[in-house]
Amino acid sequence: MKFGLLVIIASLGLIFVAIEAVCPDGYCRHSGDCYLVVGLNVSWIDARAYCTTLGGFLLHIDSQSKQTTTEGVLRRSLGIYPAKFWIDVSDLLNPTDWKYMQLKQSITYSNWNTDEADNSSTVVGKCVSLSRENEYAWSPTACEQKMNFVCFHSGIEERVRVYDRYRYSRYEMVDKTENDTLCEFDYM
Ligand SMILES: *[C@@H]1O[C@H](CO)[C@@H](O)[C@H](O)[C@H]1NC(C)=O
Ligand SMILES: *[C@@H]1O[C@H](CO)[C@@H](O)[C@H](O)[C@H]1NC(C)=O
Ligand SMILES: *[C@@H]1O[C@H](CO)[C@@H](O)[C@H](O)[C@H]1NC(C)=O
Repeated sequence: MKFGLLVIIASLGLIFVAIEAVCPDGYCRHSGDCYLVVGLNVSWIDARAYCTTLGGFLLHIDSQSKQTTTEGVLRRSLGIYPAKFWIDVSDLLNPTDWKYMQLKQSITYSNWNTDEADNSSTVVGKCVSLSRENEYAWSPTACEQKMNFVCFHSGIEERVRVYDRYRYSRYEMVDKTENDTLCEFDYM
């Protein structure tokens, strides 16, 4: 789900309405998506469960722009150790067949650390982590390892901006998420 700027024209009165996504409490917002770095030092399976309790999912990175955003968010999380983070990619269903586990779909993007997606490995059950020391490239890692993780949420449609015929802009609905915050990046 992506809201971006969905512009609809009300049938009467030439009123323009833009619906904007906001993020749940704790997440930061970038391009209508929501990211949350969690410093809990847990196994991959526990990371997935934790993100679900927060109403989201363990992050699945399916594009260069999501990878770049994730790197930006992680660079701002310098106080969290170990600086290793689970994402929702594993080959738990079928060795070396990397899937987004929530979506049960093969990956459509990857950013392997050199040749680490070693297809000859007979080790069963690998999950993917991003570490600061590898510049947040993807590494197959034993799923039982304890580390931190990033949750993802596709945003909630709560804020409606209304433009009337004089192009006057106002918020018609009150923000239910008071704490909606933008992700900030050093390099932007
Ligand atoms: C994370 O958990 C592992 C295993 O329990 C432990 O060895 C390590 O010290 C923990 N790291 C932090 C930063 O809590
Ligand atoms: C591993 O196999 C997958 C699927 O067959 C392939 O897309 C990928 O490029 C391979 N990775 C390496 C490092 O050879
Ligand atoms: C916003 O954050 C404050 C302080 O952390 C919290 O008390 C409040 O419940 C949050 N609001 C929402 C809507 O979650």
